[in-house]
Amino acid sequence: MSGRPRLTVFGTGYLGTAHAACLASLGFEVLGVDVDAARASALQAGTLPFYEPGLEPLLRAGLHGGRLSFTTSYPDAAEFGNVHFICVGTPQRPGSGGADLSQFEACFAGLAPLLRRPCLVVGKSTVPPGTVAAYGQRLPAIAPAGPGAELAWNPEFLREGHAVGDTLRPDRIVAGVRSARAEATLRAVYAEPLAAGIPFLVTDPATAEMVKVAANAFLATKISFINAMAELCEMTGADVLSLAGALGHDRRIGASGMRPGLGFGGGCLPKDIRALAARAAELGAGEALEFLHDIDAINQRRRTRVVDLAREAAGGRLESRRVGVLGVAFKPGSDDIRDSPALEVAARIQALGARVAVFDPAAMDRAKHVHPDLEYAGSVLGAARDADVLLVLTEWPEFAAADPEVLAKTVARQVVVDARHALDADAWRACGWDYRAPGRPGSAPPARTAGIRLHQAALHEAAAGFLAAAV
Ligand code: UGA
Repeated sequence: MSGRPRLTVFGTGYLGTAHAACLASLGFEVLGVDVDAARASALQAGTLPFYEPGLEPLLRAGLHGGRLSFTTSYPDAAEFGNVHFICVGTPQRPGSGGADLSQFEACFAGLAPLLRRPCLVVGKSTVPPGTVAAYGQRLPAIAPAGPGAELAWNPEFLREGHAVGDTLRPDRIVAGVRSARAEATLRAVYAEPLAAGIPFLVTDPATAEMVKVAANAFLATKISFINAMAELCEMTGADVLSLAGALGHDRRIGASGMRPGLGFGGGCLPKDIRALAARAAELGAGEALEFLHDIDAINQRRRTRVVDLAREAAGGRLESRRVGVLGVAFKPGSDDIRDSPALEVAARIQALGARVAVFDPAAMDRAKHVHPDLEYAGSVLGAARDADVLLVLTEWPEFAAADPEVLAKTVARQVVVDARHALDADAWRACGWDYRAPGRPGSAPPARTAGIRLHQAALHEAAAGFLAAAV
């Protein structure tokens, strides 16, 4: 391949669209491909079918500059590209923890027979270990180009809400390749980030595939670890925020990705740890990754804990209470509600008989689609109006910035449950709010603290006895 490779990107979700638009912004000619004709034409018209800060301007610049376009045609894509990135979704298989690879299979089976000249097919989708080896063998057997068509693996680590920055300036680029030609091609694609000093790690494809799933398993473990500590803090009256801060100062532990609260959700971490555990079991290594089931269970318990906190804050029952909910997206900066802890908690509270009014800066339309039964307010104040309890379930900056004094005049009772530790607890308490947050003092169930008080009384008694004996 001479000159700059021409690129195709199959699958135009968060990952594929960000990848296509960012590579076009680096000067490549890029063709995005999707089987969903409505999505492809929306993108061709410059409309992003989801919320992702900073991506739409890049999309439009690529379209206007003639470097970026979208199609549904696989033959056109095969003809156009020298490097084909596969970015299709790999959701959880219904009724099992395993990954549903049907979109990947359909993409591969549609593209491979059309590859007539030497090219590189690059997997970016998140797949369970062992997937790449199987596809790597099939590709030259199916493609008319034979061994000229090669499979490489180049996992993606972008976070929703930071897709552009994470694509253009990732922490590292991992290239899982079998040949010098494949490595050189990926170096050409990523020449600009490499020139900026981004580490380029060359591995075999099987390791590259593992880097992604291991990274997500580690991130999920870190979040569930601090949330497990939050459970313990509630038993002892300790403060999980101070704990996380103190732990984070240890450079071996690090502070980032260890925010306690409502736990992880979204289209990646939950399904990826389940798929990894399921594949490990299939490979005979189930015991080694057994702990991921606990990570999942700790995470699910956070949702139950926040429902319980809301019930306690509402005076012991949720029936007929008015609950204001701030946030339904799985995290701020995104309109994604896939496996959203916030939306699940809102729906569970509604199912317990409360009247729930929600507000989210970006995810309202998607949430309405799935939960038309909830009330949808037009603002923070609207969601808080006449509320017996106010819940903060997604840490959007506008919620942290809300004025507790103004909100105090809107609600029926000044009780707030800050499930994401987004608010300034002192400021809210100073305005008369009963402020509660999981893992923080003031939020422990009475029965548990009573047990601890007894234990502390026994310790004081023992200490007094010790001092008396010492003097
Ligand atoms: C995650 C990974 O962070 C990315 O590196 C990866 O590329 C991506 O999955 C993927 O596999 O495609 P993402 O799902 O966008 O990215 O979001 P994160 O920022 O990791 O947050 C995931 C969830 O964990 C959110 O619900 C968030 O609220 C929660 N979280 C995150 C915490 O509860 N505490 C934290 O400290 C961090």
